[in-house]
Amino acid sequence: MGSAQTVTVYGAYGHTGRFVVAHLRERGFVPVLSGRDAGKLRELAATLPGVEVRPAPVDDPAALDRALAGADAVINSAGPFATTAAPVIEAALRAGIPYVDVAAEIEANADTFTHFADRARAAKAVIVPAMAFYGGLGDLLATAAMGDWTTADEAHIAYGLSGWHPTAGTRAAGEVSHGRRGGRRVRYTKGRLEYHDDQPTVLKWHFPEPMGIRDVMGEFTMADVVTIPSHLAVPEVSTHMASEAARELAASDTPAPTAADDDGRSDQTFLVDAVVRSGGTERRAVARGRDIYAVTAPLAVEAVHRILTGRTRTVGVASAGEIFDAPDFLRALSPHISVELRP
Ligand SMILES: NC(=O)c1ccc[n+]([C@@H]2O[C@H](COP(=O)([O-])OP(=O)(O)OC[C@H]3O[C@@H](n4cnc5c(N)ncnc54)[C@H](OP(=O)(O)O)[C@@H]3O)[C@@H](O)[C@H]2O)c1
Repeated sequence: MGSAQTVTVYGAYGHTGRFVVAHLRERGFVPVLSGRDAGKLRELAATLPGVEVRPAPVDDPAALDRALAGADAVINSAGPFATTAAPVIEAALRAGIPYVDVAAEIEANADTFTHFADRARAAKAVIVPAMAFYGGLGDLLATAAMGDWTTADEAHIAYGLSGWHPTAGTRAAGEVSHGRRGGRRVRYTKGRLEYHDDQPTVLKWHFPEPMGIRDVMGEFTMADVVTIPSHLAVPEVSTHMASEAARELAASDTPAPTAADDDGRSDQTFLVDAVVRSGGTERRAVARGRDIYAVTAPLAVEAVHRILTGRTRTVGVASAGEIFDAPDFLRALSPHISVELRP
């Protein structure tokens, strides 16, 4: 074995960043802690002997260059990504290292494709946005469910969350996205993002047993509407959210998640039901696990591991489903996520 590979985590002391740092260590990587607040970085580093701290405000390219110097990859877990994605991607391109982020912001993810696709492809750089629970997992499931299909009429991702206690970062990202949309709602239909003012509707969704039929908020649009159509020929992509979780997210007094086990995971559980339809036929992939923030860490770290070991299918800006072998990637997530393919 050579020396361990180094991964800079930008936003290392955030709720999700801490899971990423811990999981990198578990997988044998050496994390470098970065982010805008030197004090918070030092506080985290005090619990992790030997881990280096490299503070960098996101609007300071020289500091970002120092944060990424000598690293093999960077994971950006600092959001809102409308602010952090572009400068950290620019730094990754200057450093010549892969960039992975956990952005759940539809517009920010779309911007990453729009603004960096050509330059990243020309540089043979790898940039994977939304490599997380939202955006990444749904895309891997939909891609795996497609199997040998090259097109489908529609794809649906239904989120069966037991509840949703959002972090400050989730709330901040939601506010930024809401502002960018001028308060309008968004969906992906007829092969493009469409902004609209239709009222949300509650649907009955047949989740696999034992969850069974549950109320979901229809067209509760998440980052999967950017990642899935970025590489799959599916003109209708929609995502739906368990009504209780949608209510908790919307309520201003819902508390932040709290640790319920030794790994810091909350007691939130999830079932993600991905359904693709073509003609009269339906294919499905289902994922189950615990804590949408904690589980983002194995998703992002597995992505970095695959990029650094050359198990990728393309270069440039690419979603998880495009750049990785989706069924193989999903299998590798066990025991963090259990996956069932139902062709
Ligand atoms: N796609 C998904 O499934 C998924 C999963 C998990 C998280 N996320 C996203 O990841 C982001 C972080 O979530 P979280 O749960 O970790 O929230 P969090 O605990 O509130 O952490 C947010 C982090 O971002 C940093 N940050 C915010 N604005 C910044 C800026 N302008 N420059 C530099 N750093 C900045 C914060 O630093 P300060 O403390 O200094 O403000 C903090 O480290 C959110 O955007 C969230 O939506 C997405």
